[in-house]
Amino acid sequence: MKNSPKILVTGGGGQLGQELERELSNEHLIVLARNQLDITDCEAVDLAVKTHQPDFIINAGAFTAVDGCESEPDLAYAANAIGPARLVQAAERYRARVVQISTDYVFDGTLSRPYRETDKTNPFSEYGRTKEAGERAMRPEDLIVRTSWLCGAHGKNLLKTIVSLASQGTPMKFVEDQIGHPSFTSDVASTIHDLVLKEANGIFHVTNQGIVSWYEFVKEILKALGKPTDLVTAIKTEELIPRRAALRPANSVLDNLALREAGLPELPDFRDSLPQVLGEIV
Ligand SMILES: NC(=O)c1ccc[n+]([C@@H]2O[C@H](COP(=O)([O-])OP(=O)(O)OC[C@H]3O[C@@H](n4cnc5c(N)ncnc54)[C@H](OP(=O)(O)O)[C@@H]3O)[C@@H](O)[C@H]2O)c1
Repeated sequence: MKNSPKILVTGGGGQLGQELERELSNEHLIVLARNQLDITDCEAVDLAVKTHQPDFIINAGAFTAVDGCESEPDLAYAANAIGPARLVQAAERYRARVVQISTDYVFDGTLSRPYRETDKTNPFSEYGRTKEAGERAMRPEDLIVRTSWLCGAHGKNLLKTIVSLASQGTPMKFVEDQIGHPSFTSDVASTIHDLVLKEANGIFHVTNQGIVSWYEFVKEILKALGKPTDLVTAIKTEELIPRRAALRPANSVLDNLALREAGLPELPDFRDSLPQVLGEIV
């Protein structure tokens, strides 16, 4: 491996894609947003990989609207399964390795302990099923990074919604019966960088530490903003109005076992990173 690998990021306009652009700015980097490269376009993908000859292709592109995937399963399958397969085809031809970003939604969330990388997947939403198909398109030498509850300084996300609602003193309701690890794009991008430099392959769970429900997460955000935490009320998933089209896993907690086994540091507790991330937003 060269000292500085050449890295192509696809889906570069999304919240993780923009963060990867910042994190990898000292590397030999090409970042292509969807309007520059549609990963479902076979010829365009071939041309991009042929032209740039990257060592690694990090795919941050996906159809991430979980409920939208239920109503548009073909579009979801194209972006989340066919796109990654096209990247692998081109990577095979031009000798690159693919880093595919995946999700806790590949699991059904019924396990009573955190999910390990080796646990059996069983998605029950279109989003989860199409993302699982994207994982299956990878070769043994490729890297799958599963993360969860992703948010950060870029793009639309829960943090920005809470900042806006809290500033207006708007009461909110969040579920207390879905738990997971909130993960910040800055911390996740930094670990993806480490994994690429280490030439890691296989599946890695990459999340911040700290297990909370969505309700508890919002309380932590309000606390960090110095706002009253009673702005948020806990509800059950069945009380959500309107009901969501896609089922969510009740247990989204991903054990970062592979990171520990590779001797890489775990990501910080989300509460430790929260003030810095909020500082970029507010
Ligand atoms: N957000 C989460 O909570 C979460 C949790 C776990 C895992 N993940 C995974 O993390 C990765 C990054 O997610 P994110 O939160 O950064 O999502 P995001 O902000 O929605 O960004 C996804 C990007 O992919 C682009 N895209 C969609 N279809 C494409 C295509 N055919 N070709 C090229 N680009 C395409 C989108 O462009 P347009 O906006 O123009 O459509 C968007 O810029 C995804 O793989 C996602 O599945 C996300």
